[in-house]
Amino acid sequence: MLLEVKDLRVKYQNIEALHGISFCVDKGEIVTLIGANGAGKTTSLHAITRVPPPEGPKVASGDILHNGISILDVDAHTIVQKHKIALAPEGRHIFGNLTVEENLTLATFARKDKDPVKADFKKVYELFPKLFERRKQRGETLSGGEQQMLSVGRALMTGSEFILLDEPSMGLSPLLMQELFRALKALNNAGMTILLIEQNAHMAFKFAHRGYVLSTGEIVAQGDVKNLMENPDVKKAYLGG
Ligand SMILES: Nc1ncnc2c1ncn2[C@@H]1O[C@H](COP(=O)(O)OP(=O)(O)OP(=O)(O)O)[C@@H](O)[C@H]1O
Ligand SMILES: [Mg+2]
Repeated sequence: MLLEVKDLRVKYQNIEALHGISFCVDKGEIVTLIGANGAGKTTSLHAITRVPPPEGPKVASGDILHNGISILDVDAHTIVQKHKIALAPEGRHIFGNLTVEENLTLATFARKDKDPVKADFKKVYELFPKLFERRKQRGETLSGGEQQMLSVGRALMTGSEFILLDEPSMGLSPLLMQELFRALKALNNAGMTILLIEQNAHMAFKFAHRGYVLSTGEIVAQGDVKNLMENPDVKKAYLGG
Protein backbone atom coordinates (compact mmCIF):
# COMPACT_ATOMS: atom_id res chain seq x y z
CA MET A 1 0.00 0.00 0.00
CA LEU A 2 1.36 3.43 -0.96
CA LEU A 3 -0.17 5.19 2.05
CA GLU A 4 -1.71 3.75 5.20
CA VAL A 5 -3.10 5.92 7.95
CA LYS A 6 -3.68 3.73 10.98
CA ASP A 7 -5.88 4.64 13.93
CA LEU A 8 -4.48 8.17 13.87
CA ARG A 9 -5.19 10.54 16.74
CA VAL A 10 -3.89 14.09 16.45
CA LYS A 11 -4.09 17.14 18.65
CA TYR A 12 -3.73 20.90 18.49
CA GLN A 13 -2.53 21.84 21.95
CA ASN A 14 -4.97 19.85 24.08
CA ILE A 15 -7.83 19.58 21.63
CA GLU A 16 -8.10 16.31 19.75
CA ALA A 17 -8.98 16.94 16.08
CA LEU A 18 -8.81 13.37 14.69
CA HIS A 19 -10.12 10.63 16.96
CA GLY A 20 -8.39 7.56 15.57
CA ILE A 21 -8.97 7.52 11.82
CA SER A 22 -7.80 4.86 9.35
CA PHE A 23 -7.67 5.04 5.58
CA CYS A 24 -5.40 3.96 2.77
CA VAL A 25 -4.42 4.85 -0.78
CA ASP A 26 -2.99 2.37 -3.27
CA LYS A 27 -0.60 3.30 -6.08
CA GLY A 28 -2.49 4.66 -9.09
CA GLU A 29 -5.72 5.29 -7.20
CA ILE A 30 -7.79 8.42 -6.82
CA VAL A 31 -9.17 8.41 -3.29
CA THR A 32 -11.37 11.16 -1.93
CA LEU A 33 -11.90 12.29 1.63
CA ILE A 34 -15.05 14.36 2.00
CA GLY A 35 -16.50 16.16 4.99
CA ALA A 36 -18.00 19.41 6.21
CA ASN A 37 -16.12 22.48 7.50
CA GLY A 38 -13.99 21.61 10.49
CA ALA A 39 -14.28 17.82 9.98
CA GLY A 40 -10.50 17.41 10.00
CA LYS A 41 -9.73 17.13 6.27
CA THR A 42 -6.87 19.62 6.12
CA THR A 43 -5.60 18.28 9.44
CA SER A 44 -5.33 14.81 7.87
CA LEU A 45 -3.27 16.14 4.96
CA HIS A 46 -1.05 18.18 7.28
CA ALA A 47 -0.41 15.09 9.40
CA ILE A 48 0.65 13.13 6.29
CA THR A 49 2.89 15.89 4.95
CA ARG A 50 4.34 16.34 8.46
CA VAL A 51 3.54 20.05 8.70
CA PRO A 52 4.95 20.99 12.10
CA PRO A 53 2.93 22.71 14.84
CA PRO A 54 1.50 25.30 15.29
CA GLU A 55 0.02 25.07 11.76
CA GLY A 56 0.24 21.29 11.70
CA PRO A 57 -1.17 18.90 14.29
CA LYS A 58 0.73 16.79 16.81
CA VAL A 59 0.32 13.03 16.45
CA ALA A 60 -0.87 11.56 19.77
CA SER A 61 -1.14 7.93 18.66
CA GLY A 62 -1.46 5.71 15.62
CA ASP A 63 0.79 5.61 12.58
CA ILE A 64 1.24 6.82 9.00
CA LEU A 65 3.01 4.40 6.67
CA HIS A 66 4.45 5.15 3.23
CA ASN A 67 5.19 1.95 1.31
CA GLY A 68 4.97 0.11 4.62
CA ILE A 69 7.43 2.33 6.50
CA SER A 70 6.42 4.79 9.21
CA ILE A 71 6.94 8.44 8.25
CA LEU A 72 6.10 9.89 11.66
CA ASP A 73 9.75 10.80 12.27
CA VAL A 74 10.26 12.28 8.81
CA ASP A 75 10.30 16.08 8.37
CA ALA A 76 8.10 18.01 5.93
CA HIS A 77 10.97 18.73 3.55
CA THR A 78 11.96 15.06 3.25
CA ILE A 79 8.34 14.08 2.61
CA VAL A 80 8.48 16.03 -0.66
CA GLN A 81 12.09 15.39 -1.59
CA LYS A 82 12.50 11.72 -0.75
CA HIS A 83 9.00 10.32 -0.37
CA LYS A 84 7.71 12.30 -3.37
CA ILE A 85 4.45 13.29 -1.73
CA ALA A 86 3.31 16.85 -2.50
CA LEU A 87 0.50 18.96 -1.10
CA ALA A 88 -1.47 21.49 -3.15
CA PRO A 89 -2.69 23.48 -0.16
CA GLU A 90 -6.04 25.01 0.61
CA GLY A 91 -6.14 28.75 -0.06
CA ARG A 92 -3.46 28.25 -2.69
CA HIS A 93 -0.39 29.73 -0.94
CA ILE A 94 1.22 30.92 -4.13
CA PHE A 95 3.74 33.77 -4.26
CA GLY A 96 1.79 36.83 -5.41
CA ASN A 97 4.76 38.95 -6.39
CA LEU A 98 6.37 36.20 -8.49
CA THR A 99 5.30 35.23 -12.01
CA VAL A 100 3.65 31.94 -12.88
CA GLU A 101 6.95 30.67 -14.24
CA GLU A 102 8.87 31.76 -11.14
CA ASN A 103 6.32 30.08 -8.88
CA LEU A 104 6.73 26.84 -10.82
CA THR A 105 10.53 27.12 -10.85
CA LEU A 106 10.64 27.66 -7.12
CA ALA A 107 8.88 24.34 -6.60
CA THR A 108 11.76 22.53 -8.35
CA PHE A 109 14.60 23.87 -6.16
CA ALA A 110 14.64 20.97 -3.74
CA ARG A 111 14.71 18.40 -6.53
CA LYS A 112 17.74 16.22 -6.97
CA ASP A 113 16.60 14.95 -10.39
CA LYS A 114 17.07 18.15 -12.37
CA ASP A 115 16.82 16.46 -15.79
CA PRO A 116 13.05 15.87 -15.90
CA VAL A 117 12.28 19.47 -14.87
CA LYS A 118 11.98 20.67 -18.47
CA ALA A 119 9.61 17.84 -19.33
CA ASP A 120 7.55 18.61 -16.23
CA PHE A 121 7.21 22.26 -17.27
CA LYS A 122 5.88 21.00 -20.58
CA LYS A 123 3.51 18.65 -18.80
CA VAL A 124 2.12 21.38 -16.54
CA TYR A 125 1.66 23.80 -19.46
CA GLU A 126 -0.04 21.08 -21.51
CA LEU A 127 -2.38 20.24 -18.66
CA PHE A 128 -3.14 23.91 -17.99
CA PRO A 129 -2.74 25.92 -21.21
CA LYS A 130 -3.95 29.01 -19.30
CA LEU A 131 -0.80 28.89 -17.18
CA PHE A 132 1.32 28.87 -20.33
CA GLU A 133 -0.54 31.89 -21.72
CA ARG A 134 0.02 33.69 -18.42
CA ARG A 135 3.50 32.45 -17.59
CA LYS A 136 4.94 35.98 -17.32
CA GLN A 137 2.06 37.27 -15.19
CA ARG A 138 2.39 37.85 -11.43
CA GLY A 139 0.61 35.34 -9.22
CA GLU A 140 -1.49 37.95 -7.42
CA THR A 141 -3.05 39.12 -10.69
CA LEU A 142 -4.28 35.65 -11.68
CA SER A 143 -7.96 34.78 -11.35
CA GLY A 144 -8.97 32.44 -8.52
CA GLY A 145 -9.21 29.51 -10.90
CA GLU A 146 -5.83 30.22 -12.44
CA GLN A 147 -4.27 30.42 -8.98
CA GLN A 148 -5.80 27.05 -8.16
CA MET A 149 -4.23 25.59 -11.30
CA LEU A 150 -0.90 27.13 -10.36
CA SER A 151 -1.14 25.52 -6.92
CA VAL A 152 -1.65 22.10 -8.53
CA GLY A 153 1.08 22.90 -11.07
CA ARG A 154 3.52 23.63 -8.29
CA ALA A 155 2.80 20.29 -6.64
CA LEU A 156 3.55 18.63 -9.98
CA MET A 157 6.84 20.52 -10.40
CA THR A 158 8.20 18.93 -7.22
CA GLY A 159 8.49 15.69 -9.21
CA SER A 160 6.07 13.89 -6.91
CA GLU A 161 4.37 10.58 -7.54
CA PHE A 162 1.54 11.22 -5.12
CA ILE A 163 -0.34 14.50 -4.79
CA LEU A 164 -2.66 15.60 -2.02
CA LEU A 165 -5.19 18.18 -3.14
CA ASP A 166 -6.94 20.28 -0.52
CA GLU A 167 -10.29 21.41 -1.97
CA PRO A 168 -9.02 22.29 -5.45
CA SER A 169 -12.54 23.11 -6.66
CA MET A 170 -13.08 25.82 -4.03
CA GLY A 171 -14.34 29.01 -5.63
CA LEU A 172 -14.15 27.73 -9.20
CA SER A 173 -16.90 28.26 -11.76
CA PRO A 174 -18.49 25.00 -13.00
CA LEU A 175 -16.60 25.36 -16.27
CA LEU A 176 -13.18 25.86 -14.66
CA MET A 177 -13.95 23.03 -12.25
CA GLN A 178 -14.59 20.69 -15.20
CA GLU A 179 -11.35 21.83 -16.79
CA LEU A 180 -9.36 21.24 -13.62
CA PHE A 181 -10.80 17.79 -13.01
CA ARG A 182 -10.25 16.83 -16.64
CA ALA A 183 -6.59 17.74 -16.23
CA LEU A 184 -6.35 15.78 -12.98
CA LYS A 185 -7.95 12.71 -14.58
CA ALA A 186 -5.39 12.85 -17.40
CA LEU A 187 -2.67 13.05 -14.80
CA ASN A 188 -4.02 9.99 -13.01
CA ASN A 189 -4.26 8.09 -16.30
CA ALA A 190 -0.56 8.80 -16.73
CA GLY A 191 0.15 7.15 -13.36
CA MET A 192 -0.22 9.86 -10.70
CA THR A 193 -1.79 8.79 -7.41
CA ILE A 194 -4.22 11.36 -5.99
CA LEU A 195 -5.75 11.96 -2.58
CA LEU A 196 -8.50 14.52 -3.03
CA ILE A 197 -10.09 16.49 -0.23
CA GLU A 198 -13.45 17.95 -1.13
CA GLN A 199 -16.60 19.47 0.28
CA ASN A 200 -18.18 19.11 -3.16
CA ALA A 201 -19.14 15.43 -2.82
CA HIS A 202 -20.87 15.28 -6.20
CA MET A 203 -17.69 16.27 -8.00
CA ALA A 204 -15.44 14.14 -5.81
CA PHE A 205 -17.50 10.98 -6.24
CA LYS A 206 -17.63 11.44 -10.00
CA PHE A 207 -13.88 11.72 -10.12
CA ALA A 208 -12.53 9.24 -7.54
CA HIS A 209 -12.36 5.44 -7.33
CA ARG A 210 -12.91 5.15 -3.59
CA GLY A 211 -13.92 7.50 -0.85
CA TYR A 212 -14.09 8.13 2.89
CA VAL A 213 -16.48 10.39 4.74
CA LEU A 214 -15.00 12.31 7.65
CA SER A 215 -17.29 13.80 10.29
CA THR A 216 -15.91 15.68 13.31
CA GLY A 217 -12.66 13.75 13.36
CA GLU A 218 -14.05 10.30 12.62
CA ILE A 219 -14.51 8.21 9.47
CA VAL A 220 -18.25 7.50 9.30
CA ALA A 221 -18.50 5.84 5.87
CA GLN A 222 -16.15 4.39 3.26
CA GLY A 223 -16.09 2.32 0.10
CA ASP A 224 -16.29 2.47 -3.68
CA VAL A 225 -17.75 5.77 -4.79
CA LYS A 226 -20.70 3.89 -6.31
CA ASN A 227 -21.63 2.42 -2.93
CA LEU A 228 -21.08 5.73 -1.16
CA MET A 229 -23.39 7.50 -3.58
CA GLU A 230 -26.11 4.96 -2.77
CA ASN A 231 -25.59 5.10 1.00
CA PRO A 232 -28.74 6.80 2.41
CA ASP A 233 -26.86 8.62 5.22
CA VAL A 234 -24.22 9.94 2.82
CA LYS A 235 -26.91 10.95 0.34
CA LYS A 236 -28.80 12.86 3.00
CA ALA A 237 -25.82 14.62 4.52
CA TYR A 238 -23.58 15.28 1.51
CA LEU A 239 -25.51 14.86 -1.72
CA GLY A 240 -28.56 16.97 -0.98
CA GLY A 241 -30.96 14.09 -0.31
N1 LIG B 1 -3.45 25.17 13.72
C1 LIG B 1 -4.53 24.87 14.43
N2 LIG B 1 -4.62 25.13 15.77
C2 LIG B 1 -5.70 24.81 16.51
N3 LIG B 1 -6.79 24.19 15.99
C3 LIG B 1 -6.80 23.92 14.67
C4 LIG B 1 -5.69 24.25 13.83
N4 LIG B 1 -5.98 23.85 12.56
C5 LIG B 1 -7.22 23.31 12.62
N5 LIG B 1 -7.71 23.34 13.89
C6 LIG B 1 -9.03 22.81 14.33
O1 LIG B 1 -9.12 21.43 14.00
C7 LIG B 1 -10.42 21.11 13.49
C8 LIG B 1 -10.30 20.53 12.08
O2 LIG B 1 -9.85 21.55 11.21
P1 LIG B 1 -9.47 21.30 9.68
O3 LIG B 1 -8.81 22.51 9.18
O4 LIG B 1 -8.76 20.02 9.55
O5 LIG B 1 -10.94 21.13 9.02
P2 LIG B 1 -11.35 20.94 7.51
O6 LIG B 1 -12.13 19.66 7.44
O7 LIG B 1 -10.19 21.07 6.62
O8 LIG B 1 -12.39 22.14 7.31
P3 LIG B 1 -12.60 23.15 6.04
O9 LIG B 1 -13.51 22.41 5.10
O10 LIG B 1 -13.31 24.31 6.67
O11 LIG B 1 -11.29 23.50 5.47
C9 LIG B 1 -11.23 22.39 13.56
O12 LIG B 1 -11.98 22.36 14.73
C10 LIG B 1 -10.18 23.49 13.60
O13 LIG B 1 -10.62 24.61 14.30
MG1 LIG C 1 -9.62 22.46 5.23
